[in-house]
Amino acid sequence: MCGIVGYIGRRRAAPVLLDGLKKLEYRGYDSVGIAVLDRGKLAIEKRSGRVAALAKAEELSGTIGIGHTRWATHGAPSERNAHPHRYGKIAVVHNGIIENAAELRAICEARGEVFSSETDSEIAAHVIAHYFEEEGDLLRAVYRAAGELNGSFALAVLAEGKEEIVCARRASPLIVAEGEGEGFVASDIPALAAKGRRAYVLEDGEFARITREKVQIFGADLALRLREAFLLEEEELAPEKGRFAHFMRKEIEEVPEAIQNSLFLSDTLQNKEICEVLCQTYYFDIVACGTAYHSGLCFACAAERLLRVPTRVHIASEYRYSDPIVPRGTLTVAVSQSGETADTLAAARLAQERGSKVLAITNVVHSSLSRLADFTIFTGAGREVAVAATKSFHAQLAALYSLLAVLAKYRRSCLPPLEKFPDLAREVIQKSECAAGWSPYFLGSKSVFFLGRGVDRCAAMEGSLKLKEITYLPSEGYAAGELKHGTLALVDGRTPVVAIITDPQLADKTMNAVHEVYARGANVFLITCFPALCTQKEVTASVLIPACPSAFSPMLSVIPLQMLAYHVSLAVGNDPDKPRNLAKSVTVE
Ligand code: M6R
Repeated sequence: MCGIVGYIGRRRAAPVLLDGLKKLEYRGYDSVGIAVLDRGKLAIEKRSGRVAALAKAEELSGTIGIGHTRWATHGAPSERNAHPHRYGKIAVVHNGIIENAAELRAICEARGEVFSSETDSEIAAHVIAHYFEEEGDLLRAVYRAAGELNGSFALAVLAEGKEEIVCARRASPLIVAEGEGEGFVASDIPALAAKGRRAYVLEDGEFARITREKVQIFGADLALRLREAFLLEEEELAPEKGRFAHFMRKEIEEVPEAIQNSLFLSDTLQNKEICEVLCQTYYFDIVACGTAYHSGLCFACAAERLLRVPTRVHIASEYRYSDPIVPRGTLTVAVSQSGETADTLAAARLAQERGSKVLAITNVVHSSLSRLADFTIFTGAGREVAVAATKSFHAQLAALYSLLAVLAKYRRSCLPPLEKFPDLAREVIQKSECAAGWSPYFLGSKSVFFLGRGVDRCAAMEGSLKLKEITYLPSEGYAAGELKHGTLALVDGRTPVVAIITDPQLADKTMNAVHEVYARGANVFLITCFPALCTQKEVTASVLIPACPSAFSPMLSVIPLQMLAYHVSLAVGNDPDKPRNLAKSVTVE
């Protein structure tokens, strides 16, 4: 999704900005641009496409600048719609969505102002420029403009003749930092990281003024706020693909390590306060999106089956507008790899307003979710670059299952052990390579069904999401027993079916669905821990995963599904790491 960088110092700004933008590339974007103040005058370069397309901009001189990677929301991906947007003396980069842009645009146009893009973001440049004319002070102009903007924004703003960058944040992340004679801003820590830099995460409603000498933070009333800085670590080495052709494949290989690093290791689980909250937890509410929502579904199966804790799993974007009922004794668990997903943050906030404590499960230290939550368990997946979540899913499961194990202790109950999962996952990765040979059956298919019951249905939903996301094939993750209530009408010889069967109590039942789709000509691919099923005549090919407690089986059964999606994506000629239209971190609603 969109990314922001900004620099003021003694070095030339353009190379610093381009370097920062490269570090934000993994988020997904379609156009780029930078604006530099050179002897008080704005110079802007923007392009449709990747940061590399902006190489010429490196020659711009000037020591103050802002840059942006854009992921189109309002207006097509094009050079014209790329940021920075300029109006008069003002240049702006914006993340988020300005919801009243059309209204404000009409007001500006009535004043005779001409717009040069179709974006909602350009309105920020116009409104700020209007107030800058009146105030002559950039901070006050941004402050007054922010008061007129509805929606979400992270803004970094330059003005001709001003040796400063002014920033504003509302519901879209922004971090400011200072070094010796330098100041920085970015939407994401990796774009800022360098040992010894002092950083501050802006809170909602705050503003910042960055000069070469200092960073100042102002509250919603523009009163100066004193803040404790945190020290940034040494610049993280940009992740490399190593011996793998794609990050996604490499990240599947890293699943065992991600599980290992997320099992029981979080201090949070030993923390006295969370222990007290867990002792009084009678219900879990999970709020999450996409893959994180699916790990929540898997958790719910385990929590209900093993500990009989009623657990509801909510799509965060639905929860936030659902006027939720939050009974006393509910612990809300917000799951998010990035910790920046706008809907998950809003859902977590609402749960707190309704009196629930929020436990965050996230992969990113200093993320907005970890700062908002009452407690956080950091997963140990390491940086995930591919847009399709793989190892972070397993890390979330490991953290969530560990949480259950701790709860089981308080309840003097006992859970099946989790320690063997890293090794078992390693075994499954090897076995899953055969999915490469399944691709021809999926090429040219009309649609794909992933079927399962109980916990296997949750795995099926994740397998389907992965396939859709990186192959663009229509697919559904479906409850096997529900098929004949309508959807079976879609199944024929051009509808491959992937069945997941890991629960001994439900194996025969899911096999009924396998018979039904086979009878309609479908090729069936099976992921199971029951060897006898692999040799059934209905099964075209299978991956036999090791036996494990079925409540925890998604930890293993999802691996072949990830691998299948990866290989089909290659077979259709896609780049699995960068699916069209998608971003790694979804910071807008
Ligand atoms: O960062 P989050 O875990 O909050 O992201 C949630 C979803 O956007 C994410 O899981 C998305 O569904 C993945 N691209 C799926 O592979």
